Amino acid sequence: MRRRQTPAGPRLKKSSSPLSRLRPLPEDEIFGLQRTFGADPRPGKLNGAIGVYTDETGKPFVLPVVRQAFEHLQAANFNYLPIGGDPRFLELTAKLVFGEQRYGTLAPTLVAQGVTGGTNALSLFGGLARTADRRPTLIIGEPTWENHKKIFDHLGFAWKTFLHLTPAYTFNLAAALAALKTRRPSWVLLHGGATHNPTGVNPAKQEWQFLARAMAEYGHTACVDHAYTGLGDGLIEDSAPIHQLISLGVPTFVAVSFSKNMTLYQHRAGALLYAATTAKEKTAVTSHLEHLFRATNSNPPAAGELVVGKILSEPQLRQQWEGELAAMRASINERRTQFIKLVGEPYGYLERCRGLFSLLQLNAKRIRTLREQQGIYLLSSGRVNWGGIATLDLPRLAAAVRTVA
Ligand SMILES: Cc1ncc(COP(=O)(O)O)c(C=O)c1O
Repeated sequence: MRRRQTPAGPRLKKSSSPLSRLRPLPEDEIFGLQRTFGADPRPGKLNGAIGVYTDETGKPFVLPVVRQAFEHLQAANFNYLPIGGDPRFLELTAKLVFGEQRYGTLAPTLVAQGVTGGTNALSLFGGLARTADRRPTLIIGEPTWENHKKIFDHLGFAWKTFLHLTPAYTFNLAAALAALKTRRPSWVLLHGGATHNPTGVNPAKQEWQFLARAMAEYGHTACVDHAYTGLGDGLIEDSAPIHQLISLGVPTFVAVSFSKNMTLYQHRAGALLYAATTAKEKTAVTSHLEHLFRATNSNPPAAGELVVGKILSEPQLRQQWEGELAAMRASINERRTQFIKLVGEPYGYLERCRGLFSLLQLNAKRIRTLREQQGIYLLSSGRVNWGGIATLDLPRLAAAVRTVA
């Protein structure tokens, strides 16, 4: 008996597109956890994973001065900004980072490009390094912010890493100096301010001096990732290492982000600054940055730049911002200190931390247990964001950490 033939649909040709060879990548851990946290129905869940500051009761927080500045945002029209960004914003940002006095000296050769947040400032720096150096090597301490890996891998950098921490949970100056000791001029990524992500442990002033000297001696270029300015020891203190680098003649980029210190996360305000040494270098670097930025973003987003510009330029708003920033910093320190008191040993090492983050020395299995059994979300590395934990929840966090340890 002959089989009845079923009508065949169009025969699909196997795709020959290069896309057919792509394999899915693992989800970004931070944003993956953020999604899982959002969907978690447990009422007592805690989010210490993503780097966002909440108020002491755990509620989302926007600085009052930023809300105020947004209300009075004077955007005359919605025309494009120049490729480099809003000139007033760029000047005020540079003055904030370098201080009025040094800004005066640097201004004639200063390069400033508006960007879409600190991430973009870093990738723009990487893109420029890649243009100038066909085989760029990035020297960086580990562990570091997860996205550093993605940004510089994507750009094809080779890595030279050193251990950021000693076994005693202090900054590992010896390892850093050993890594810098290479005759091949390299690109060095440094965490600015006293806010290392993820450890919260930062070089002391004297250690910065050793780092700056080594960088100058071996001809390296620095990029200071300045994503948490003012949340470590203070606005002026957190920028001090930049002065040390520049004073010793180290070519220095600063990747500025206003995501955290202005609570502007989704508005993507930031800048890439470079203290060039000659007018010729300034012209060349500016043109390359503009070229890279034009090809990828064309124009920086204006709302954040205008808000930052307004706050930094109006003395009353500026003063209010500095006060509110100091209060955020104090609250982060207070939450960390309270946790240390509640949890007891062996977590005394956390006293050395500054900024939002510290590493709880718990392995990934224990971190998973915290999440699955108690609804406590931390990164698998043990990174906790103190600014994401409400004061009332600290006893619960301390008890849970003691239980799984
Ligand atoms: C170390 C570090 N650098 C840069 C950034 C960039 O921040 P954004 O791109 O949100 O401005 C972050 C944000 O989490 C960070 O932790």
